[in-house]
Amino acid sequence: MPEQDRASRSLTGSAARAAAQSESAAAALARSLTLPDGATLRLRAICPDDAPRLQAFHGRLSPQAICFRFFGVMPELTSAFAERLSQVDYDERMAVVATPSADASAPIIAVARYERTARTEAEFALAVEDDWQGRGIGPRLLWALAEYARHHEITTFTAEVMYTNERMLALLRHARFPVTMRMREGRVVARLDITD
Ligand SMILES: CC(C)(COP(=O)(O)OP(=O)(O)OC[C@H]1O[C@@H](n2cnc3c(N)ncnc32)[C@H](O)[C@@H]1OP(=O)(O)O)[C@@H](O)C(=O)NCCC(=O)NCCS
Repeated sequence: MPEQDRASRSLTGSAARAAAQSESAAAALARSLTLPDGATLRLRAICPDDAPRLQAFHGRLSPQAICFRFFGVMPELTSAFAERLSQVDYDERMAVVATPSADASAPIIAVARYERTARTEAEFALAVEDDWQGRGIGPRLLWALAEYARHHEITTFTAEVMYTNERMLALLRHARFPVTMRMREGRVVARLDITD
């Protein structure tokens, strides 16, 4: 077998092993999530089938929540964007979703995601459906995502937050992780040390 073929075959093999490992790590993330008020949600890794549920979730967000999350007006999530957001590799890009029940077709009510920006750093973002906000879902999704990220050698989470987004800023200040915040071009840039 030519050297190059052997190399590409073994690369394919190791890439496939890494993908299988990441998928099983993502499967291990599935759990129930108890809120401070006693309500129970389901937490799981996002999957490619979630694209239409992500579009429906986006459709239920208020214009302000969309603006805080995407820094602009975006009344609809296009199919192409929903597909990109629902197709992650469970390592460089990862997302966890919360649903009110374990039913596979249950609506998505919150999403936390990260995208790696350096070997040990990733930018993260959260969105919780308006009717579910203020119940402690955001912080719990952040903790679950950070726990997953730590197992993928990520030690720092960063986020850009509008300075008017008081709920997100309060969440960051109370999020159990050492945090630094500074202003850049009218936005707060937060860095969280998620090592433990
Ligand atoms: C910002 C957002 C993700 C927060 O999620 P949430 O589930 O509504 O979060 P909660 O309000 O339950 O938690 C934050 C609150 O809990 C408090 N809190 C969080 N962790 C806490 C802790 N460990 N101990 C004590 N209080 C804590 C915060 O002070 C805050 O309280 P306050 O708003 O009454 O001051 C959500 O409101 C949202 O999706 N907003 C729109 C999109 C957005 O802004 N995304 C962020 C873009 S980076």
